[in-house]
Amino acid sequence: MTDHFATAFRTSAAGSLRAAHIGGAATLAGWVHRRRDLGGLVFLDLRDREGIVQVSFDPSWTPEEVLAEARRLGPEDVVQVEGTIHPRIEGQANADMATGEVELRGTALRIITRAEPLPIQVYRAPSDELAAEDLRLRYRYLDLRRPELQDNFAVRHRAAHATRTYLGGQGFLEIETPMLTKPTPEGARDFVVPSRMHPGEFYALPQSPQIYKQLLMVSGYDRYFQIARCLRDEDLRADRQLEFTQIDAEMAFVDEEDVFRTGEGLMAAVFRDVLGVDLAVPFPRMTFMEALARYGTDKPDLRFDLPVLDVTEALAGADFRLFQAIGGGPQRIRGIRVPGGARLSRKELDELQEVAKRGGAAGALWVKRGDEGMSGQFAKALAGAVLESFLGASGMEAGDLFVAVVGHFRSAPDFASASDEAIAAPLEGAVDELRRHLARKMELVDESKYAWLWVTEFPLFDWDADHGRLVYAHNPFSMPHPDDLPVFLEAAKDGAPTGAEARALYARGLRSRAYDAVCNGAEMASGSVRIHIPELQRSVFAAMGIGDEEAEAKFGFLLEAYRFGAPPHAGFAFGFDRLVMLLAGVTSIRDVVAFPKTTSARALFEGAPVKLGEDQLREANIRVR
Ligand code: AMO
Repeated sequence: MTDHFATAFRTSAAGSLRAAHIGGAATLAGWVHRRRDLGGLVFLDLRDREGIVQVSFDPSWTPEEVLAEARRLGPEDVVQVEGTIHPRIEGQANADMATGEVELRGTALRIITRAEPLPIQVYRAPSDELAAEDLRLRYRYLDLRRPELQDNFAVRHRAAHATRTYLGGQGFLEIETPMLTKPTPEGARDFVVPSRMHPGEFYALPQSPQIYKQLLMVSGYDRYFQIARCLRDEDLRADRQLEFTQIDAEMAFVDEEDVFRTGEGLMAAVFRDVLGVDLAVPFPRMTFMEALARYGTDKPDLRFDLPVLDVTEALAGADFRLFQAIGGGPQRIRGIRVPGGARLSRKELDELQEVAKRGGAAGALWVKRGDEGMSGQFAKALAGAVLESFLGASGMEAGDLFVAVVGHFRSAPDFASASDEAIAAPLEGAVDELRRHLARKMELVDESKYAWLWVTEFPLFDWDADHGRLVYAHNPFSMPHPDDLPVFLEAAKDGAPTGAEARALYARGLRSRAYDAVCNGAEMASGSVRIHIPELQRSVFAAMGIGDEEAEAKFGFLLEAYRFGAPPHAGFAFGFDRLVMLLAGVTSIRDVVAFPKTTSARALFEGAPVKLGEDQLREANIRVR
């Protein structure tokens, strides 16, 4: 038998042996995953990238000197084994292993290289914990031998392959863009690279290929894509690395719906090819403000419902100091009805205070509805007509819990009339935390689901209260929403609005044509319909305090390019690592990146970053402070 793993050292991959191969002979090469001595015979689990197969050495078929050699095998020795393929003996088949029906009866064995005692184990009994992550990252090349991780990289490869196949089939061209570039405005810090030939000058590594892909549209390369490396000097988290990969795409002569169809089609193809899962398309769409009001976040987890309810009016006459302090407008009482939540213990209810505080609220208030009526923190305020209107608004039934938060909400009317402090910390974050926490507590999260949606109409501007100025919410290239464009143009016609005027412009809640794709509560992609008109681009820059001079210095080449015939265009970038996390079912980005950095931004096994020697610094024209 042969397969594409057949080489000078082997006839096939160890992990590819199946019942159909029974009766044949094979030579395999790989690592000693585990050796078990059972009296006279020795079992060897032989591992290669394709999987693990059982090899048995038994005096009935194994020569004495081979058996003796097998007894000396240690974990992770690299060996070559020859033998014949047999069914496992009665009762020994292992349905959990792809090779579980067969074993190789070993007749010859060669130790190719020995492994020294290992700093971390590759084989683990089901009850063994993983070694500490720092140790695993220090010996990443050993950690990468773990079959779970090898599976993740096979998933990663298949996802990239499916991406290229799908986008290629839709007429996209894969084009590479530079790594040595100018600062790009994605909102993170740049990594910079000194230029040897131009002392004192620096390249920036790209935070994304954003500007290049827009230029490619101007150049007529309608339908570009790239599986692009991006570099951002930002704080690391479970789903963030300094270097990461995007599926970056741009299309000309399109609007949002064209882009959404492409993004959905791409995700559907990837999920089908990699997991055999059929995603429901089209994905639901929801505006940013709808998402904020209904779920408290712009990345709602739609695997469960638990909508946020506004009970401000229903509680208007309640005899409860905190509610009476509510002045209307952006101040609201919002909360979540938790079906069956009345069974939560006192301790679990107390926990909700901490959860709400994590989201920026002073605390959370709860009431339960039991068979005997209402109980809990604001139960006394619920009587007569107020009780009736509250039950109507909340929909509470016997056995339910309602958890409320009181204060300013960004998705409430007149939010911009609130103080700068309130604007800086709206309470959507608190209801979002509560919603996610309660869904986990009540076991409402269906882990088998992929709940995708597009969140649309992101704000054009955010408000930087510290500096009293408008800042871009997505990136400065997003087209303003057509309904808001006249307001914007009017406000920006005499130059950049400042002070109260800028604040008032923010208060208008101008929308952009930027969108995100969200799955299971995580931001998977961002994109927008871009500005392709140079004057409009200048106005948007200006509104964000990027004056003509700065705009010229930073983006002059883009503004210039737009003067020579720019098509309308739009695009997206999916976080490829995050996509692979979703496909592989893992919660740490480090499980899908071959050589990741630690959360303190170090590469542990090769030991980067490092200090440079004087010679290298001089060559790069750098003096270290
Ligand atoms: P954005 O900055 O939102 O958009 O990035 C797009 C997607 O990339 C992923 N992502 C990351 N993944 C891992 N580590 C990181 N540090 C990291 N940062 C972002 C996220 C995110 O949704 N140029 C625009 C796209 C466009 O407008 O076309 C951009 O880069 O999943």
